[in-house]
Amino acid sequence: MSVIQRFYDGRHFQADPLSYLNQLNDDQDVVFFKAGLTTFCLLRSPEDIKRVLVTENSRFGEGKWTQRGKYVMRDCMITREGAPHRERRKILQPAFKGQVISKSVSPTIQLSLEICNAWNDRQTLDLFPDMNRIALEVVGHSLFGSCFGTRASRINDALSVLLRAIPRPPIPWPRVITARRTIRKTTSQMSEGPLLELMKHAGLKEKEIHYEILSLLIASIDTTPKTIAWALTLIGANVEVEEKLYEEISNVLDGRIPDLDDLAMLPYLNQVIQETLRLYPPVHFIDRRANEDITFGEVTVPAGMYLLLSPLLTQRDPKYFQQPGEFRTERWTPDAVAQRVPFSFYPFGSGPHACIGKKLALVEIALVIAVFVQKWRFRPTENLIANNSPQRTDFPITVSRRL
Ligand code: HEM
Repeated sequence: MSVIQRFYDGRHFQADPLSYLNQLNDDQDVVFFKAGLTTFCLLRSPEDIKRVLVTENSRFGEGKWTQRGKYVMRDCMITREGAPHRERRKILQPAFKGQVISKSVSPTIQLSLEICNAWNDRQTLDLFPDMNRIALEVVGHSLFGSCFGTRASRINDALSVLLRAIPRPPIPWPRVITARRTIRKTTSQMSEGPLLELMKHAGLKEKEIHYEILSLLIASIDTTPKTIAWALTLIGANVEVEEKLYEEISNVLDGRIPDLDDLAMLPYLNQVIQETLRLYPPVHFIDRRANEDITFGEVTVPAGMYLLLSPLLTQRDPKYFQQPGEFRTERWTPDAVAQRVPFSFYPFGSGPHACIGKKLALVEIALVIAVFVQKWRFRPTENLIANNSPQRTDFPITVSRRL
């Protein structure tokens, strides 16, 4: 393959990975492809995905993008592997349970109400910036005891610059340096909260604490906000889903604000969220590196090769989901879930590196939707319906007040 072809393949892959990977040999479970200067091996089959993430996870190390992520996030839980990863995860894990999840409820509700109370009837707006604001405040408040307030948008911009810098070559662009400074200033002002206490108690140095906070903030922008934005887009584009959801929520809540205990009584809301995460998982790829030669079926992947697993591709594979492009909430009834092929749905990953923020994210997503759908209807604009690419970062929607 010529250098020019590799360059164009790399650009195509970055711009629209779904269409690029779909045009490769799509009946193979193991597919090799070159993007830029790197050869990747894409694994499609749920059995292989389970081996990499869970049963044989120690045979795999960090992937190419995670290695690049060290330029931005240095040494932190996300960029560690093996024993150092397990050690750091053990320190941080307790902060993502029970009390912290309860603590996240109040800022989520307050901000959701503040945001939707400021909307005008039949206004067209972009949901994404506000959903990012909620995500940032929820993590700041529940994990670090910090409220970002008027600084939220500047912090969010800085985090977006750093997030975009991760897959790129490590060059100290002025924008990246400025973004680093902004976040450094923010984290140096944080002094309380359950996660900070755990890290201090475990003897982490100031720099280590800074990079853990930075990486957690990076992991929480884009992911939860995109899921909420896609969920509201899909709800708005499917009126019968919107009405069924409204009925469930108003029967349970009867106009009051939701609490953590209410979520167990909203099974249809959960179906809507699961189906959104199937069609639009915010993390499109999970990357690894083979530590040794490893055989998948009849193909041997050599030691050192970079591997990609894609929730986006597997969850849209017709082998595992009929009519995969359709938004069908009935895929998530208990009976349908019981028949699901294991590891054909893994938006939060699995195994030792599985998403540590999963519970926090799911609670936030459910609460925001429950608040909004009680009061508002959502209609995605023509432009959003015509271009529903998972790569989208803007979500123009018209909101109209329920009477
Ligand atoms: C809908 C929301 C989210 C989705 C779909 C998601 C998805 C994922 C996935 C797929 C991984 C696994 C990566 C791997 O195996 O290499 C992951 C890891 C991680 N996520 Fe999330 N995430 C979400 C929200 C969050 C939030 C809100 C936080 C933080 C508050 C967070 C923090 C992390 C961290 C720290 C890791 C690395 C864990 C480790 O390496 O041990 N995520 N996430």
